Amino acid sequence: MVRNDDSEDPAMPGAKKVHVKTFGCQMNVYDSERMAESLKACGYSETDRPEDADLVILNTCHIREKAAEKVYSELGRLRQLKEQRRLDGLQTQVAVAGCVAQAEGSEIIARAPVVDLVVGPQSYHRIPDLLFRSKVEARPLVETVFPEEDKFKQLPRRARTHAASAFLTVQEGCDKFCTFCVVPYTRGMEYSRSVAAVVGEATELVQAGVAEITLLGQNVNGYHGESENGGTASLAALIKRLARIEGLERIRYTTSHPRDMSDDLIEIHATERKLMPYLHLPFQSGSDRVLAAMNRKHSAAEYLDIVARIRRARPDIALSTDIIVGFPGETEADFAATLRVVEEVGFAQAYSFKYSPRPGTPAAKIDAQLPESIKIERLHRLQRLLDSQQTRFNASCVGRTFPVLFERSGRHEGQLIGRSPYLQPVHAFAAADLLGRIVSVEILGAGPNSLSGVIQAA
Ligand code: 5AD
Ligand code: SF4
Repeated sequence: MVRNDDSEDPAMPGAKKVHVKTFGCQMNVYDSERMAESLKACGYSETDRPEDADLVILNTCHIREKAAEKVYSELGRLRQLKEQRRLDGLQTQVAVAGCVAQAEGSEIIARAPVVDLVVGPQSYHRIPDLLFRSKVEARPLVETVFPEEDKFKQLPRRARTHAASAFLTVQEGCDKFCTFCVVPYTRGMEYSRSVAAVVGEATELVQAGVAEITLLGQNVNGYHGESENGGTASLAALIKRLARIEGLERIRYTTSHPRDMSDDLIEIHATERKLMPYLHLPFQSGSDRVLAAMNRKHSAAEYLDIVARIRRARPDIALSTDIIVGFPGETEADFAATLRVVEEVGFAQAYSFKYSPRPGTPAAKIDAQLPESIKIERLHRLQRLLDSQQTRFNASCVGRTFPVLFERSGRHEGQLIGRSPYLQPVHAFAAADLLGRIVSVEILGAGPNSLSGVIQAA
């Protein structure tokens, strides 16, 4: 059976189905939501079953080799799925979005002819149009130029969400050029949205029931958007402005560079009640030699000084970080320096990675690449230390009472899962009408990755 062409009619909402699969960071999660929303306006409804989808979008990550390679195994599966649907008389379009799309462009189509559209992160507002063109012209399209127009202005307004917590991209791209990182190449130069645009979107989210907003940017604390009076606003100024939105209870931001941890941003951790006491601040390596080779533009001592100043401003702040082990030329002494920084700071949570050489980045060209066995061994040692710190931090919460924002139902009947101010998942038995609300919970139990407790008062 060939599908009735009525399904092409944009006036028939929900007639076509889109499945979006997201890899990588929170910005991709945000972008996937915005892509799905813009397709909704063209008659697509979302499905979590790829086999039912007329359009499958893979929103990809290029940060490490493993993440990038996942795309190709996924495309292998989609080739079979597209063929099966063809035998059933159904058409399927496959789009690759995100940072692999930006970095590899037409190579993706050469390697995986199942793909109809390759679209970079700056062109998501063009997706409906590009899909249509690809179909009419019966050929795959690649759109990876950085367009003149601002995609945020072109994307439709935020649809109603039922989430308690939402991401909001305020800044994109990065000019830091850490030598290991593809982001400056895949996401382009730093760009900040205006305060008015961010406040507008935040207000829509809050009106839809969102109580917590996480401001996103590859280098979010480098934010310098146009202020409401035509000047330039820092991230601290933006947070202060957002805090005035009634109904917005919690503000977070991620991810930050130590160099842009300005005094006003540190200060606002002391003064702004809505800003949660949690900071993700990558340090990557504790060795000054490696930090210099990474082009991080800060030393280990400078990082520790920033941490000390943040803790003076907000003594209960919980810290999280990113660390890379096995950067080219990293010696055992360099690695020991990384462990020392971890010991000294004491992280509530952390992400740690084996260095992965990325095409086109300066570090990939360094001769002294380390063998995989050394990277694995160092990563294990580091993760043992980080896990013990996280477990200790969680255990230290037992007996305390936290305001918890309940976000979703748990696995057990009557159970809800929310987040503490320190971003830990908290499980508690609670009435479903507490979803989306902030409730006092006494913490009775702690595991390596989450807390559990009982409701004190709504
Ligand atoms: N190899 C390993 N980890 C990397 N990251 C970025 N690029 C690489 C790479 N080439 C890590 C950094 C960064 C996080 C998002 O991913 O720690 O902060
Ligand atoms: Fe990549 Fe972050 Fe460095 Fe920018 S600051 S180049 S995003 S690691």
